[in-house]
Amino acid sequence: MHEPYKKKYNNPVTAVITGICDLFKKKEICGVLREADRLDGKTVFIDGASSGLGFAVAVAIAKRGARVMMACRSGIPEKGEKVKQLSGNQDIHMLHVDLTDLSSIRHLVSVIRNLDHKPDIYILNAGIVPKKSRKTPQGLEEMFMVNYFAKFVFIRLLIENGLIPDARYRMPDKSQPATGNRQPASRILFVTSESHRNPEKFDWDGFGNYKDYGIKQSMELYGYYKLLLVTFSRELSRQLNPDGKTITSVFAMCPGPVNSNIAREAPTIFQPLLKLIFALFFKSPAAAAKPVVYLAASPDLDGKPYDYLFLMSRQEIDEKAADPGNGKRLWELSEKLLKIAPLTL
Ligand SMILES: NC(=O)c1ccc[n+]([C@@H]2O[C@H](COP(=O)([O-])OP(=O)(O)OC[C@H]3O[C@@H](n4cnc5c(N)ncnc54)[C@H](OP(=O)(O)O)[C@@H]3O)[C@@H](O)[C@H]2O)c1
Repeated sequence: MHEPYKKKYNNPVTAVITGICDLFKKKEICGVLREADRLDGKTVFIDGASSGLGFAVAVAIAKRGARVMMACRSGIPEKGEKVKQLSGNQDIHMLHVDLTDLSSIRHLVSVIRNLDHKPDIYILNAGIVPKKSRKTPQGLEEMFMVNYFAKFVFIRLLIENGLIPDARYRMPDKSQPATGNRQPASRILFVTSESHRNPEKFDWDGFGNYKDYGIKQSMELYGYYKLLLVTFSRELSRQLNPDGKTITSVFAMCPGPVNSNIAREAPTIFQPLLKLIFALFFKSPAAAAKPVVYLAASPDLDGKPYDYLFLMSRQEIDEKAADPGNGKRLWELSEKLLKIAPLTL
């Protein structure tokens, strides 16, 4: 039961306190990330890799031998050069994407489609806590877009282009050997948040509508969009792996509080205090990357259709997110919203 989470993420102060308290609660560890869990020969895609958790994950997976595709809005090429330097791996590539813009996501997928080495593992990590609502080029709300809808559009475009096999849409040619650049993605990971447990219910009627909000409501909506993301991750696993056979594993996780740039839009007056609290109590991005790397690299998870980790602890997702009826409804509403962005490249 996660009832105590309710309301704890409704504002930045209680969210920070909840995050810190959670770090100290005793949790059962789900497994061990071993030195031997290598990613040699794998191509790993990660978005939001210019900063914080995403950058640290890029370094960690590069150290494990992966070819890394860093999809970033900023930091091209210097963040990629930094990853090369820190990991000693030169097989690091940078792709540009602005997740607020549907045409940029479409362009990203067209670039991936033409890569010699298609990603085996996708890590969808980018997320924001804006100080106020902002309109995207297509008139959607920015946090809704970056934290949820961009991921739905990206995944649907990958499916549509045969880069993720989905029985309900289009399967890649099964007669091709599952090697080299024909190999379909094997794992998809979503970086979400325990704050997905905060909202009491879905706002289906307002789905995708532009909403005006300020800093006070931002944290509450952040939890709501993470609820959409966790619900989507669970539904995606059901759709990609029908009949009890795992084709593509779908994982979601919460890294716990991370000393990243996530609070970059907090009021200037609070910035010094936040920086101090983050530095003292939050995990370093390198430490917070461990469960992401475990989900990407560990053979313990081979054949698992779905998993959710909070830090290195396996948890049930919120029951609203687990409900197949909610998953189906979210998928249908998201498809409907896609009409503003047809699935053509
Ligand atoms: N920090 C925490 O305590 C915490 C706790 C739970 C979950 N999380 C989750 O962890 C994930 C990573 O966040 P973080 O803490 O590492 O924050 P961060 O340091 O602010 O990193 C966020 C990343 O997302 C990218 N991004 C934002 N908007 C984008 C856009 N429109 N297009 C492309 N990329 C965009 C940023 O790129 P730019 O640098 O170009 O803006 C940056 O690389 C998020 O999903 C967050 O919700 C964080």
